[in-house]
Amino acid sequence: MKLRVVLVGPPGAGKGTQAQFLSEQFDIVQVSTGDIFRANVGNGTTLGLEAKKYMDAGELVPDSVTIAMVRDRLAEADVRHGFLLDGFPRNAEQAAALDTLLGELDTELDAVLEMQVDNDEIIRRLAGRRTCHGCGQIWHVDYDPTQVEGTCDACGGELYQREDDQPGTIRRRLEVYDEQTAPLVRYYSERALLVPLDATGDVEDVTARAIEALKRATS
Ligand code: AP5
Repeated sequence: MKLRVVLVGPPGAGKGTQAQFLSEQFDIVQVSTGDIFRANVGNGTTLGLEAKKYMDAGELVPDSVTIAMVRDRLAEADVRHGFLLDGFPRNAEQAAALDTLLGELDTELDAVLEMQVDNDEIIRRLAGRRTCHGCGQIWHVDYDPTQVEGTCDACGGELYQREDDQPGTIRRRLEVYDEQTAPLVRYYSERALLVPLDATGDVEDVTARAIEALKRATS
């Protein structure tokens, strides 16, 4: 199925986790602005050095930088058969820019999946998150542990804890979400694109509910 989907939800809602499964299920490309920024930080690019200042503080990277990056990514050939945007748009300006970009590409969104999780669960998820340096696979020390602590089951790579998963930074990221990103729920609801999803419970159950909800919304 050729789908163009946005995932929206607070930090730790499971967007990255579900994006991996959903992009496989629907055979579409996952475009994660957070992953692109982290890859640039890891490679020490100018973009990475600029983005890191904001990411470490739990703030949004400036729109001018982020929108230009997404414009370039959406111009690539692999997104023509569908995409799943994870972490973009994150404020009203980015949502308007996305509308413009999609108009230029003569296409439009099919659905916006809103992942709903309460704050206590978010803190538990982010505090225990570990990510693989090698393949980017996301794990959790309690909810989804690897067989050998600190080593990725998928590729044998080393796991790390994200710098923005410190308690103070998590608090700021949640505030930024409430102030700037949560209003997009209404924006997309008014455009009849919003698909609310209970994102609590086992990862597999959330995936199954998400697939079902997206199929229903786009049939
Ligand atoms: P980004 O990487 O997008 O971070 P985020 O939105 O804060 O989301 P997270 O990646 O923290 O969480 P997630 O929802 O993907 O959860 P995950 O699947 O990992 O952005 C980082 C920074 O980059 C931003 O703060 C900003 O500075 C910058 N940035 C990015 N996009 C930008 C934009 N558009 N504009 C400006 N700046 C931008 O899951 C979390 C944990 O929970 C994992 O350990 C996982 O194993 C576990 N888990 C997942 N699902 C379940 C489940 N069902 N049950 C139990 N555990 C679960």
